[in-house]
Amino acid sequence: MLVGGEGTRLQPLTWRTPKQLVPVLGRPLLEHLLLHLRAHGVTHVTLALTRTPLAAAVHEAFAESGALDLTLDYAYEETPLGSGGAIASIAGGWDEPFLVCNGDIITDLDIAAFAAAHRARGAAISIALHEVDDPSGFGVVVLDAASRITRFVEKPQREEAPSRLVNAGTWLFEPSAIAALDPTRPQHAEDELFPTMAASGGPIYGFAGSRYWRDIGNPDAYLRVNLELVAGALPARLPAGWPPDGVLAADGARIAPDAHVRAPVLLGASVAVDAGARIEGPAIVGDGSRVGAGTLVRRSVLWERVQIGPGARVIDCVLADGVHIGAGAEVDGAVVAHGARIADGARVTPGSRIQPDALEGA
Ligand code: GTP
Repeated sequence: MLVGGEGTRLQPLTWRTPKQLVPVLGRPLLEHLLLHLRAHGVTHVTLALTRTPLAAAVHEAFAESGALDLTLDYAYEETPLGSGGAIASIAGGWDEPFLVCNGDIITDLDIAAFAAAHRARGAAISIALHEVDDPSGFGVVVLDAASRITRFVEKPQREEAPSRLVNAGTWLFEPSAIAALDPTRPQHAEDELFPTMAASGGPIYGFAGSRYWRDIGNPDAYLRVNLELVAGALPARLPAGWPPDGVLAADGARIAPDAHVRAPVLLGASVAVDAGARIEGPAIVGDGSRVGAGTLVRRSVLWERVQIGPGARVIDCVLADGVHIGAGAEVDGAVVAHGARIADGARVTPGSRIQPDALEGA
């Protein structure tokens, strides 16, 4: 699994938390990806990381991966090698077909069906595809009648896109297919190997096998995925014991009798929702957070230990660990990074990106 990127588009959330550990429904993104693989019969995963302090946090978080019933290996690039370089350096000596996954995608891709199609077609490389409404931000593929990929078009204008099928970031390789990749040179398989094979008539095939597919590239996508998942877009991703009424409060959560929690809402351990507060789902409130008296939280994701002062309004926001929102503040459409403080009565406008430990509106 490719998890060695810098996560720049997800800043400021990724200054202190690596992309793979950002919480999705209260658990690290990577845990969801590994559970999906495990549910489809994968038992051995190599994480392709770049050697950085944040990567060490990923390693530590999964050191006890026994609970996932998976064998995890860690392979480090000293500097990022891109997908092609990473695959070549890790899989160079392998003699069996293998799966490569981008580490920032939540999907219900049927991996067994994907592998079966790969074998049946005699493919050297298979690429999972997903149909999107607007392909302009993606690598678009063109298929022939037998699902062989004939062409890739990178980020076309929407009206000029030759199809709406995009490279969904999960690939199957025969070992022989990576001979052209150089393990010492940074390169992207999707820029070089894939288009070259497609243009030369080689056995590279596409497979559309997902109903849900989201790339957690930037904060807007991150918020959207969390809200869709808490609303039940992928039932397998919901926490165990998800109740029919769509409000799950973990151990120790305290909801004042006159507070109002409208589903779907996930409340973490030891969350406090004070008198008269309203939480309007979809919303997620992380462990140890406090939603103060008379506040409104709507369509937002709060990480751990977030404090929202009395009478504040938080709408369409992501608030990272330890954020403090002052009394009466109005925060709309903002991403607030770890430990930042919004002053009492401050107004934070849509699109704001507040850096870690910043003091805003004082
Ligand atoms: P941005 O910096 O915002 O573009 O994010 P990113 O670094 O995650 O890049 P991108 O979204 O293109 O990466 C898709 C997946 O590939 C992510 O899971 C990355 O961690 C991973 N990835 C990207 N570049 C490399 C690399 O050079 N080496 C490895 N091992 N993984 C990579």
